[in-house]
Amino acid sequence: MTARYVLGISAFYHDSAACLLRDGEVVAAAQEERFTRSKGDASFPRHAVRYCLQAGGISAADLAYVGFYDKPLLKFERILETYVGVAPRGFGQFQLAGPLWMKEKLFLDREIRRHLEYDGEILYAEHHESHAASAFFPSPFEEAAILTIDGVGEWATATLGLGRGNAFELLKELHWPDSLGLLYSAFTYFTGFKVNSGEYKVMGLAPYGEPKYVEAIYRELVDLRDDGSFTLNQKFFNYLTGLTMTNGAFAQLFDGPARVPESKLTQREMDLARSIQVVCEEIVLRMARTLHRETGMKHLCLAGGVALNCVANGRLLREGPFESIWIQPAAGDAGGALGVAQLVWHRYLQQPRRVIPGCDAMQGAYLGPEYPPEEIQAFLDAQGASYERLDRDCLLRRVAELLAQEQVIGWFDGRMEFGPRALGARSILGDPRSPRMQAQMNLKIKFREGFRPFAPSVLAERVADYFELDCESPYMLLVAPVKRDRQISMTADQRRLWGIDQLNVVRSDIPAVTHVDYSARIQTVSRRTNPNYYDLITEFERLTGCAVLVNTSFNVRGEPIVCSPADAYRCFMRTHIDYLVLGPFLVSKAQQPEWKESGEWQREFQLD
Ligand SMILES: [Fe+2]
Repeated sequence: MTARYVLGISAFYHDSAACLLRDGEVVAAAQEERFTRSKGDASFPRHAVRYCLQAGGISAADLAYVGFYDKPLLKFERILETYVGVAPRGFGQFQLAGPLWMKEKLFLDREIRRHLEYDGEILYAEHHESHAASAFFPSPFEEAAILTIDGVGEWATATLGLGRGNAFELLKELHWPDSLGLLYSAFTYFTGFKVNSGEYKVMGLAPYGEPKYVEAIYRELVDLRDDGSFTLNQKFFNYLTGLTMTNGAFAQLFDGPARVPESKLTQREMDLARSIQVVCEEIVLRMARTLHRETGMKHLCLAGGVALNCVANGRLLREGPFESIWIQPAAGDAGGALGVAQLVWHRYLQQPRRVIPGCDAMQGAYLGPEYPPEEIQAFLDAQGASYERLDRDCLLRRVAELLAQEQVIGWFDGRMEFGPRALGARSILGDPRSPRMQAQMNLKIKFREGFRPFAPSVLAERVADYFELDCESPYMLLVAPVKRDRQISMTADQRRLWGIDQLNVVRSDIPAVTHVDYSARIQTVSRRTNPNYYDLITEFERLTGCAVLVNTSFNVRGEPIVCSPADAYRCFMRTHIDYLVLGPFLVSKAQQPEWKESGEWQREFQLD
């Protein structure tokens, strides 16, 4: 029998993406922004689709089905209706408004056909079903509870579900406008960061603050119930009617107007960040407890934008009722492309699901484009670049030596990651032991005066030697403390430091990856999914005794993570990265011809 292909698409909201399945297996998945170089690109993902079809060696005519990750008609209905006052309070029954194969009569059908040159069937799932599918189907669990939390899809803002074998069911949902994602985004907006991408910064800022607004949030903004459902007091928000997230009443409650983006951060923003983070964690924990009580499951799968809150995930793992949790690496809307494709395969086509215990189906999230050495070499030659080609062992040894000498490495190897984190395929690497590394990488490479430390990559088997964590965190979605005996306590003088000065205090033997509250956003690296990266860290450990590297995404501020060798070389030449690894090639900055800037580009030394 010939293989059957399903293409999943998410688009027109934020972070468009495409994903291709061959007989249910993920062949490829990528976000459109990486190809167009426009961050969070929400247009039809024609480059991502083209790449997926190429990776599968097929054309659109070979597709059995195309799945779209939400139902724009329903979204349209929500936008038109007057919702305040009519939305049910608390968790309601999840309402499936139409079957998966419901035909959308909007322009979308035409749009997809036009872009794809495809005249087969197009199936539409509901937004949270796509999230839930992306959480459960690729998970390593035969059966599990499912929690999805985001801003909003059609109507649902959070759902509780239960998955078994090749099927799942959403049991309950919280309805627009009561949304944890939007609540967090309101604080993101109010503290002067960009909604839909700055949430990460709010989470990183939280450890500098005190939870002094928690009481006000519960008193005025959020009527939280024991089961984790809540009602937001719309008196304080503007997202139903206005262009901003919050209004004058919100500003009055929180001691003045919203912070102007890029202006100096004050203690108030830090306290606000800490407060909303505390509330967010409490809501997630309560929802998880309800879900556990109602399903009796041991395992939990998570997706939706709020599942990227790795501090909340860490608490959920430590304090929550579930034995283990698995989080979809592309937890945001990009992951909906993967979810809907799997939904078509398992639900619509009734195909079985094979689970390998302890092993998820995401292939380390390395699902994007890769570039053969000949193509990389042709590019380097065309640039007139100077480079060496090394065999694998020699390259890993040289790079480990350079890292140990505090050189910063642009590491471009294998297939690009799917999802927002760089996981050792498109990463900038450094030595976590160096007390200078954090400032150096922030100012000279990322061009920001960061208040967030960098994330550590650690060999999976060694994670418990460095962190208070004893499970894998392959997608950098869990935060846990640096191991107690590695922590260095602060002196009284150091404790009095404020803001970023606090971050520069050496607080462990891996200072570049230790946050002010001694936490770290951990990536565990396994040999199975990324042997080159794993062996590089092993080589670094052999040289230095340290099984950890600093891993930050290969991009500069405001730019999507690099995709191609050309993106990587450009980023390398525009920054103070010392060496670039492009597959088997080692490129030294000191030996490159002078870089001539073709377009507009300005260095920005701003808070990030
Ligand atoms: Fe979503």
